[in-house]
Amino acid sequence: MKRVLTNVEGLDELLGGGIPEGNIVLVSGAPGTMKTSLTYHILHTNALDRLRGLYISLEQGRASLLDHTEGLGYRHDAVSGNLSLLDLATLRKKMVGSSEQPWMDLFKLYAQGIRKSFDYRLLVLDSLDALEILAKFRDPRREMFSLIRWLRDLQCTAFLLGELPTDVSGADPRRAAFAKHKEDYLVDGILHLRLARQGDFGMQRQLRVVKMRGSRHDTGYQALVFDNGFKVTRILA
Ligand SMILES: Nc1ncnc2c1ncn2[C@@H]1O[C@H](COP(=O)(O)OP(=O)(O)O)[C@@H](O)[C@H]1O
Ligand SMILES: [Mg+2]
Repeated sequence: MKRVLTNVEGLDELLGGGIPEGNIVLVSGAPGTMKTSLTYHILHTNALDRLRGLYISLEQGRASLLDHTEGLGYRHDAVSGNLSLLDLATLRKKMVGSSEQPWMDLFKLYAQGIRKSFDYRLLVLDSLDALEILAKFRDPRREMFSLIRWLRDLQCTAFLLGELPTDVSGADPRRAAFAKHKEDYLVDGILHLRLARQGDFGMQRQLRVVKMRGSRHDTGYQALVFDNGFKVTRILA
């Protein structure tokens, strides 16, 4: 089985060599848990290896995304030929007549259209929640189901970002839901990011592979460290 590297130290090993190619992965977590940073990292590092990626942002503008990721040390001009950043909101404003175009159609149109000239293999949708709000889903479960089926036909490895409420620290992780509309059942993989209390004053970033089809993996929380790149390590008691 072919796998896509996350290039996160410790995570590829945990996944048995990376994410199985073609998997649709939900990356869920509260605001500020580095969903955007982590998925950008995956696209950026793969772009350095000439595996093309498309990052579609509905949450923040292109300039703000570039600002954030350059601040983390990723130089976009080093990968601009292999990593495309698309800010759907700005694009929509610029397009004549597109204000009438439903968001979902616009998303699909671009994701599919760009493929013809820019053959990307990795896709990030940041975020499902923003798309749901903008597209005014009437029947979220049905729309989510059809979106994920559509993504499968696109045949790329996709990361869907999902916002979770901030405080889930008390919740039993075995019972915790990772998605609002059952998309956790539909996707092939789930990465959960959280900020956990550590000691009296500290917080620690943590990551857990909740599920990953095609990989046998540990399902416990691991520490997620950002220091010129991401690293996943065992939590020291
Ligand atoms: N240079 C940095 N090093 C480590 N963490 C940073 C740095 N710059 C920003 N952050 C953290 O990144 C977080 C935002 O990450 P982001 O990927 O936008 O999260 P999300 O997409 O989950 O909301 C901020 O809360 C901040 O704590
Ligand atoms: Mg984000």
